[in-house]
This record gives sequence, structure tokens and C-alpha cells, in this order.
Amino acid sequence: MIDPKYLKAEQLLNWFSENGRDLPWRVKGKAHQNPYAVWISEIMLQQTTVKTVIPYFARWMKKFPNIQTLAQADLQDVLLVWQGLGYYTRAKKIHECAKQLMALYDGAIPNDRSFLLKLPGIGPYTASSICAFAFNKPETVVDGNVIRVIARLYGLTHAVTKEEIYELAHPMTPPDHGADYASAIMDLGATICTPLNPKCAQCPWGADCIAYRQGLTDSIPLLFKPEKKEKKGSVFLIQNKAGEYYIQKRTQKGLLFGLFEFPWEYDDQRPFQAPFQKTTYQITHVFTHFRLTLTLQTIHLETVPLQTGQFVHPNDFHNYPFSTLMKKVIQILPKSKNTP
Ligand code: ADE
Repeated sequence: MIDPKYLKAEQLLNWFSENGRDLPWRVKGKAHQNPYAVWISEIMLQQTTVKTVIPYFARWMKKFPNIQTLAQADLQDVLLVWQGLGYYTRAKKIHECAKQLMALYDGAIPNDRSFLLKLPGIGPYTASSICAFAFNKPETVVDGNVIRVIARLYGLTHAVTKEEIYELAHPMTPPDHGADYASAIMDLGATICTPLNPKCAQCPWGADCIAYRQGLTDSIPLLFKPEKKEKKGSVFLIQNKAGEYYIQKRTQKGLLFGLFEFPWEYDDQRPFQAPFQKTTYQITHVFTHFRLTLTLQTIHLETVPLQTGQFVHPNDFHNYPFSTLMKKVIQILPKSKNTP
């Protein structure tokens, strides 16, 4: 006899066994045998979609098949595999964490939330998801998918917090099948309870869902999107006779530390006092708190006092980790040369 408290969990697990997705970092019916794979995939999935993560994850696991290889790798190689995913501090923290795992746990990942939380880059969500997916523990994971599913199920029309969702989701989390339950609730959000056009008629929780019954799925969850500030700046292209561009490794602490870049600025902090020529090309990139538009400017090599950077040919750019911002510049480089 099923405890009525876990009736919804039972419905969801039944749905999952028929409809759940098979993914490289998950195994239906049990925990994944490699907690390292779970950890890496979870950090990657915090910033982008499953579809984007799949090839990144495959390349990562090929290059760094275990914690030991990762701990011994150069940060630059780690950033190279991560490049394009954004939030580079996460890749740096993964690298730091691998070193600590070697030093403290002989290269294993602890199966205890309180130990996980002491490691670099592992916060409450990641600790819970590792415990669920890798160790089959009955953890309540709350990501964007779960927020949407629970907010709709309970018909929450106000702007919800993660804590509030946790309080509602936690009592429904069954004591067994931790990995499948966490996967199932995420898959429900990703494939049925989608942001737009949810497939409520196919939802195992449809009959109990307040948003569905009251026709409120379009307005739940209520999302506050703060207006992004607009910033403008320049990126400076300096080319030598061999067709190589001047790039430098970022030394300023922060999000993009350690990545390569063309010299660039915003808020009028010119890196050079040299005369530059404006092109008609611009790139736009959205950061967490602002939207940045950079105009491409060219500078003659002879007019500029260069510092610590180096000249690299575009054919060799693949050996250097660039931020997504700079990759956008690289994509339009050939066009920018045709500027009058
Ligand atoms: N999003 C975050 N973790 C996930 C997982 N393990 N599977 C699918 N989507 C996810």
C-alpha cells in the first residue's frame, strides 16, 4: 500500500519509467556509477540546456576522464574545453575542486551533503543534485524546471522564491528512488511542463494541477526580469603584416580572468592612447547584469605601445581559450577587414 503522501511521487516515477530521457550522465532506475560525471554535468547544466551540454560533456570526459587527470591539467586546457559555455569562474572552481578532491579524498567525491558543501563551487543545489543522481539519496532538488512544475501544481500566482518551492517540494520527495525522482521532476519540467505551450493533457500530475485546472499556466510562474543596463564600448583590432592579431591574457580578477582577448573597454577607459579607426561592425553580449555593445575599432600597429600580449594568427585561435564575447568578435573578423 502506497503512503498517500507519496502518491504523486509514484505517479511521477511511473511516468518517468515510460517517458524519461536517457542522458549520458544519468541512468534510469539507479544512481549513476560515476559521481564525477554527475558533478561535471550538473555544473554545465546550470548555465545552459541539455542539448548544448551533451557535446561539451562528451569532449570534457574524453579530455579529463577522471578527477586525477583534471587535477593535473593546466587551467588553460580546462578553460579551452569550457570555452563557449560562459561563467568561466565555474570552470576555474571545478579545477580547484578537483585538486582538493585529490588532496582530501584521494580523488573520490564524498557522498555526504555537508562535506560536498565545503568544496569550491559546490553550493546547495549542486550538493543536493550530486547526492540524488550519484548516490540515490532522497534529496529535493530545486532548479528552474522544478520551480515551474511546483508553482503550477500549487497555483502560485505571486513571484515565488526557491525556499518557498523547496518547502512545498520537500514533503513530496519519496524516501527511495532519489536519482529517478530528481530526474523525473526535471524531465517533467523540460518536456511536459514547459514554459510555453505545456502539454498538460499528457502530464501525470495534470488532474491535481491548479494552474492547469484554472487555465493559469501562461501566467505561472511569475518571473521578474530586471531591466538590463545598456553599456557601450570598443574592441581594438591590431594586426601585423603576417595577418596575426594582438591578443592578451586577462589578468584582471573577475569573470573573464585567465581567458584570452583582444584589447577592449567600456565606460570610456581606453587601453591605448593611439588613434583608432571605427568600423561599422558591432557585437552585443548579454551579461548577468547588463547588455554590452562593442564597436570594432582598428589600430595601426606602429602607433600603439603594446604590452604583455602576443600576435596570433586566426588559424591558431583554437589553441587559446576565448570568452563567448571574444568568440563573437572572432566570427566577424573577416568582415571587419572589408571596412572602408
Ligand atoms: N538539469 C539539471 N540537472 C539535470 C539532469 N541531471 N538531467 C537533466 N536536466 C538537468
